[in-house]
Amino acid sequence: MVTSGANRTGGLIWHWRAWRARSRWAQTREAIARWLAGVSPVSEHLLLIGPSAGWMMPADFLSRFSRIDAIDIDPIAPILFGWRHGASLRSAGTRWQFHREDALAGLGHVLERWPQASIFFDNVLGQQIYRFTDLPGLERRLARLSSELSGRDWGSVHDWMSGPARPSALVPAAIWQPVEMTVEPRGYRLDGRALSVDDCAQTLLARLGATGDWQDHLVSQVFAPGTRVTMIPWAFRPQKWHWLQAGWVDGSA
Ligand SMILES: C[S@@+](CC[C@H](N)C(=O)[O-])C[C@H]1O[C@@H](n2cnc3c(N)ncnc32)[C@H](O)[C@@H]1O
Repeated sequence: MVTSGANRTGGLIWHWRAWRARSRWAQTREAIARWLAGVSPVSEHLLLIGPSAGWMMPADFLSRFSRIDAIDIDPIAPILFGWRHGASLRSAGTRWQFHREDALAGLGHVLERWPQASIFFDNVLGQQIYRFTDLPGLERRLARLSSELSGRDWGSVHDWMSGPARPSALVPAAIWQPVEMTVEPRGYRLDGRALSVDDCAQTLLARLGATGDWQDHLVSQVFAPGTRVTMIPWAFRPQKWHWLQAGWVDGSA
């Protein structure tokens, strides 16, 4: 599969944006932290894919591991990750090491190299639309992930959809409520109802007062049917919102 070249999912622009938006992103960061606090990785060794500087990552979660191997194509990520998380990781006794490589292109090799580690895709899978030109091929690639990861303990938070929204007209507290759903063969179960992916998207977009066209991040087949997912809203820019999808798969189940 062909990538578009430059890293349009990370790098300096991402770091600048994340630093400037840190207060607007706080509620989403806290929702991710609450979700991560409820997952139970089986290993003390974490394979963290696409962490960048860990702008959205709670130190509490990282400190649960004795060792972290982080994989990111961004050469600046290790320095900024150390700056943001180094002190708490050192005080927890967590060792960490960065590897600059494409974790999706080399996933087979990555899985073989660390066969026992729990794996977390940290807002990276939904970002691949910015790297690949063959989008149908990318969607098929992402749909194969759950079988490639079969037997492994793994999770992901990723962009599900993004686009323009003006939710200020709605009740703010309701907007920030994460939405719990279960993946079904052709959509999701939401509030006891089986919905197609499109109907589910319409329900979630209505919650945010979505306007205009929304981008599908091609991740709707990343998790296999039966996986519980938590949908988390993210005010990426004041009038450009994302729905993030977070899920964890217990490889021993
Ligand atoms: C949206 S940023 C992730 C942000 C990060 N989770 C945080 O909290 O700051 C996506 C990251 O994934 C990295 N990335 C994208 N595709 C990758 C790949 N195939 N392999 C490894 N890293 C990748 C980018 O360099 C970038 O740092």
